[in-house]
Amino acid sequence: TGYFTYDPGFTSTASCESDITYIDGDKGELLYRGYPIEQIAEKGNFLETCYLLLNGELPTKQEYDEFSYAISRHTMVHEQMQYFLRGFRRDAHPMAIMVGMVGALSAFYHDSTDINDPQQRMIASRRMIAKIPTIASMAYKYSIGQPVVYPRNDLSYAENFLHMCFSVPAEKYNVSPVLADAMDKIFILHADHEQNASTSTVRLAGSSGANPFACIAAGIACLWGPAHGGANEAALNMLQEIGSVDRIPEYVAKAKDKNDPFRLMGFGHRVYKNYDPRAKVMQQTCHAVLKELGINDDPLLDVAMELERIALSDEYFIEKKLYPNIDFYSGITLKAMGFPTTMFTVLFALARTVGWIAQWNEMIEDPKQRIGRPRQLFTGATQREYVDTAKR
Ligand code: CMC
Repeated sequence: TGYFTYDPGFTSTASCESDITYIDGDKGELLYRGYPIEQIAEKGNFLETCYLLLNGELPTKQEYDEFSYAISRHTMVHEQMQYFLRGFRRDAHPMAIMVGMVGALSAFYHDSTDINDPQQRMIASRRMIAKIPTIASMAYKYSIGQPVVYPRNDLSYAENFLHMCFSVPAEKYNVSPVLADAMDKIFILHADHEQNASTSTVRLAGSSGANPFACIAAGIACLWGPAHGGANEAALNMLQEIGSVDRIPEYVAKAKDKNDPFRLMGFGHRVYKNYDPRAKVMQQTCHAVLKELGINDDPLLDVAMELERIALSDEYFIEKKLYPNIDFYSGITLKAMGFPTTMFTVLFALARTVGWIAQWNEMIEDPKQRIGRPRQLFTGATQREYVDTAKR
């Protein structure tokens, strides 16, 4: 009974008011707290972006120093989490490990689960941002059978993450500044994206009063899907499957065929009906990384660029306003940096954690927010009499 708006996929329903991120999908514009993503990626860094998303303003020098010091003090995870990690099979997908480990943080940091105390919420936020790279690198090291590498607080956020992923106790590891800069940019580009599926999941989970670690674990689970964060992994797999430029027309035809479920991964977006501004920065970052690594001729990049060229001049893609999204070039970049495809979505989750946390905090501070409780249009059987088993 009652009238509800039926809006599958919430294409025209605003679930909240938010001050954090603004997207103009027609213009292809993305602003964090009013600042264009291109400017932040060019001039800022990820920790500054975290501060901005959480607090609404860019930090002063002193605020930045305090914030980055606080983050670096929280980078270690409870040593007992190593036992939890070892319970996973070696071939577990790192996203499965992420969902489990992040959810388990609530069992290790009880003091940060009081969501009504702003001070505890701040500590929980910092803990999440500080520990997520450590957990992501643990998932990676575990999957390749190498010892877990502890964080180094003298390094920047991105440098420390690369160190935890790629250094081994037996050798000195020098983080390349170009790769660290690329990693930092990739984190910035993924930091927030208003009410997408995983962020809405975090808000919905948080609306019941669940603790922040449980809410972020829910967000990670949602991000895993190939239509969302899993698209970077799917996009790279697709480029590898296409393999050479001459096979592109075959795949474009498949993508256009209504009877074929195949889609060009890394193309299209619910909100952007223009070039995804993140994809532009990602493309430049991709070139910088390949140059730094001396990869002059990457067949995957050739396929990607030609695919983009063909798709952008094709009637089907033009009419449906399907442009490359952030995931199109991120896979090539991350692969060149040495990450296996299974880690791609993990890196997305790492970067998006700050966005989820900022949105979760905003929701809790908003007096208008109530428990999320969508209604339904019931289409099942109307009331009927129970039938005994013998008579069915
Ligand atoms: N290749 C071919 N056709 C497509 C594609 C594509 N990648 N994306 C959408 N279409 C077609 C779709 O078949 C539909 O056609 P029709 O109107 O004839 O039925 C039309 O375009 C609209 O698509 P939709 O599925 O109704 O649009 P949506 O807003 O529900 O979905 C999307 C958005 C991102 C899930 C979708 O474009 C997609 O599946 N893209 C590939 C996966 C991908 O790259 N995802 C990453 C998104 S960006 C990062 C993130 O948010 O996590």
